Amino acid sequence: MSENYYRKDIEDLPDFKVENIKATLKLDQNEYPEKLPKYLRNKIFHSLKNKYTENRYPQPIDYLNKKKKISEFLGISEKNLIFTMGADQGILATMIISGKKVKIFTPTYPIPENDAKILSKELSIEALKYENDFVLSKEQIGKNLDLIYLVSPNSPVGNIIDDELVEYVCKNNQLVVIDEAYFEYSNKTYIELLKKHENLIIIRTFSKACGLAGYRFGYVFANEKIISLMEKVLFVPYNLGLCHYAIMDNFSEIFTLGMERGKIVQKIRDEFYLFLKKNSFKSYKSYGNFLFFEASRKLYDELLSKGIKTRYYHIESKDFIRISIGTKKEMDQLKKELKGK
Ligand SMILES: Cc1ncc(COP(=O)(O)O)c(C=O)c1O
Repeated sequence: MSENYYRKDIEDLPDFKVENIKATLKLDQNEYPEKLPKYLRNKIFHSLKNKYTENRYPQPIDYLNKKKKISEFLGISEKNLIFTMGADQGILATMIISGKKVKIFTPTYPIPENDAKILSKELSIEALKYENDFVLSKEQIGKNLDLIYLVSPNSPVGNIIDDELVEYVCKNNQLVVIDEAYFEYSNKTYIELLKKHENLIIIRTFSKACGLAGYRFGYVFANEKIISLMEKVLFVPYNLGLCHYAIMDNFSEIFTLGMERGKIVQKIRDEFYLFLKKNSFKSYKSYGNFLFFEASRKLYDELLSKGIKTRYYHIESKDFIRISIGTKKEMDQLKKELKGK
């Protein structure tokens, strides 16, 4: 067989790498550090066990009924809502429906760049600047792009974007995606702007504050036309499986739990931020469940050798570590390792 059957640009994409070390403290993927409360885990398992049969495909009418109930709970029209297999599938779908001229600002969550490399005709990647504390500026935005991907709070730095700037982006471009994966930790959402800007898309996930990373459940808010295009691309409802249906059965309780947990984590995060400052680390104020600070590669390696998994970044010749916020006990353990470094 010739080598021409596949795309060379896909072969050249970087491999997905995670350090293959058993973690004693897992602070590298911004997950929630604890399992669901037992009663809620049991409710999900109960749904899965008693409501569905695995030999049948998920039924469209069942999907529509669930969607109606959930949109009522969220206070939006069901026409403006779609459920996805993780936020990642929502991001992918936006790139498929648009995907001509795409712009991304780094450092940020890496999957959209990967998607855009595969799907867009023209990708521009603009670096957020160290001297501006990695804050997005108006001058960097650009005009007449088909899709701009923004994250707020942005990972790894943790800053949020002003409404005014989001409105400027919306007025000057076609589709604008705001990834709100960490919104529960920020007391901030752009949902109100959907009424004013029909090109705005808001992506959310149950993988973070809701603690369901293993289930791969996400949802998206957007204008009716955009949602209908995404539904066509994903062939809704066949993009989801029964585990997702069991999550939908318990949506309101999981969502509410995520909001409560968001508040708990904010306290631990802000306290740890002060600890970092006190110990002379240059740390960035964060609205997510993570903190980003300047620290050497050596420190990252030292932590890893002790089974403490964090994320290392090298930007503009400087070294940084991002830590996810764990339980209070876990953060106390990390403090011991960082003191005096
Ligand atoms: C900004 C951002 N969006 C999306 C995701 C992935 O979400 P999901 O697990 O729902 O695909 C992550 C995961 O780290 C993220 O940081």
